[in-house]
Amino acid sequence: MVTPDFAEPLATLAPSKPEVEKRELGQFFTPPPLADFIASFFHRPIQHWRVIDAGAGGGTLTFALIRRLVAQELRPLSFHVTAYEVDPDALALLRRTLVACAELCARHRIEFSSEVRAEDFIAHTCAALDQALFAPALRTFNAAIVNPPYRKLSVGSPAHRQLTAAGIEATNLYSGFLALLARLLEADAELVAIVPRSFCNGPYFLPFRRDFLARMALRRLHVFESRTAAFATEAVLQENIILRAERATQPPATVEISSSRGDIGDSIRSRLLPWSEIVQPDDPQAFIRLPASDSEHAAVASLAGITGTLADLGLKVSTGKVVDFRAREHLRADPEPAAHPLLYPCHFEAGALVWPKLGGKKANALAVPASRTDLLVPVATYVVVRRFSSKEERKRIVASLIDPARLPVATAWLGIENHLNYFHVAGQGLDPDLAHGLLAYLNWSVVDDYFRHFNGHTQVNATDLRSLPFPPSATLRALGKAVACGPSLPSQAELDPLVASYCVTHTP
Ligand SMILES: C[S@@+](CC[C@H](N)C(=O)[O-])C[C@H]1O[C@@H](n2cnc3c(N)ncnc32)[C@H](O)[C@@H]1O
Repeated sequence: MVTPDFAEPLATLAPSKPEVEKRELGQFFTPPPLADFIASFFHRPIQHWRVIDAGAGGGTLTFALIRRLVAQELRPLSFHVTAYEVDPDALALLRRTLVACAELCARHRIEFSSEVRAEDFIAHTCAALDQALFAPALRTFNAAIVNPPYRKLSVGSPAHRQLTAAGIEATNLYSGFLALLARLLEADAELVAIVPRSFCNGPYFLPFRRDFLARMALRRLHVFESRTAAFATEAVLQENIILRAERATQPPATVEISSSRGDIGDSIRSRLLPWSEIVQPDDPQAFIRLPASDSEHAAVASLAGITGTLADLGLKVSTGKVVDFRAREHLRADPEPAAHPLLYPCHFEAGALVWPKLGGKKANALAVPASRTDLLVPVATYVVVRRFSSKEERKRIVASLIDPARLPVATAWLGIENHLNYFHVAGQGLDPDLAHGLLAYLNWSVVDDYFRHFNGHTQVNATDLRSLPFPPSATLRALGKAVACGPSLPSQAELDPLVASYCVTHTP
């Protein structure tokens, strides 16, 4: 039997599973050095640990926590872990790891006990939370360490139904796990978790954010700047964060935001920020903002004086109405007399409309019957922002202008494809000065850095754009006039100081 004393790559001893099985289980094992780093987040001195490790895999996290505790000067007296796992291969490994944990504790005179629950954490906990007569007793804990499974939860799936019955709205297994853990922890208990950053913003996770933040006080959030480094051995492309939260109904006064490149041993930058900068008190979306890098932090400071909203400007932002695979019969490769221009991201270059793009992969036109004019918008001036950028791209927010003068056909309507968001005035176009000002503002590097502090993924959704602060209409129009003087959008090096000169208010 393998009884490693150090964080040997236990997880890598597991038989390698086919990718599809791993995806189904939401299974990504934590590499031991990362597990050690995660375990180092615990803060509270405890004499008698009662830990839950839900989705324990091979037990790497629990083992790392014990390694940390035995290395402390003041060691605990006892350590009990309850570990949930459903995968038989992982369970075999988990049991071996727990033997190693017991040996390590015995060597350091810490009383050790463990309970392996070879069952579904969600099903079991939801049943325990249910006050029904024959439900299993609800067991509580004073610490949780977790790398939960990640997988979208489809509506109507057993886990989704169980969570809904327990009053939890979850869109992903990991948020379901966190919501349940928050209910199993005793007052002041710490939860340390490595999870995707996706719950921090976006409408799908709003019910989860509200629920979690009402029960848990976030104390530290660690961001990995590289998307892949933390799970270098696994095909994880999610941006992950480590969080430490305490069971408490009051928000914390401050939160530590730390970041590192992603390799263990890299230098860590850290700053303590007031809670109101992490979750703004008047933010209806309750975004969890993580100004981790210096440029993001500087962007938050630069935009501090800009407090207007999109609604103040009388503007709305929506996702393009044409979902091409649902409108296949209406797509036309080339412009036709009875068809309307259809605009994809490929129809914009350096902020300007270039249509049609003949011979490419994307359609150029949409021929819709009278019954489907809901897919169209009136030809007018709009600002569009691409919804998807690739990881390699320097900027997340890429804004362009729909200038009707650049459409070489006479038409009253056009289609905007779903990979674009577009800014409009109640479905109509913007006046050109406002549009140019908005175009320049959205393409400002500072806005891009600001955006990154609340959005960790490469997707730019309309909700995210609505959450940006906007300067007053007069400022944007003045900026728009200055920008529209030239034939095309200035280079980034010219644009940035120009926008700053209009939008940054300097306090004396
Ligand atoms: C992301 S892996 C992490 C494993 C381990 N905690 C680690 O850090 O290496 C999540 C684990 O949860 C397990 N799992 C998936 N669904 C589960 C469920 N409903 N109940 C308990 N475990 C589950 C998977 O088999 C997988 O081993």
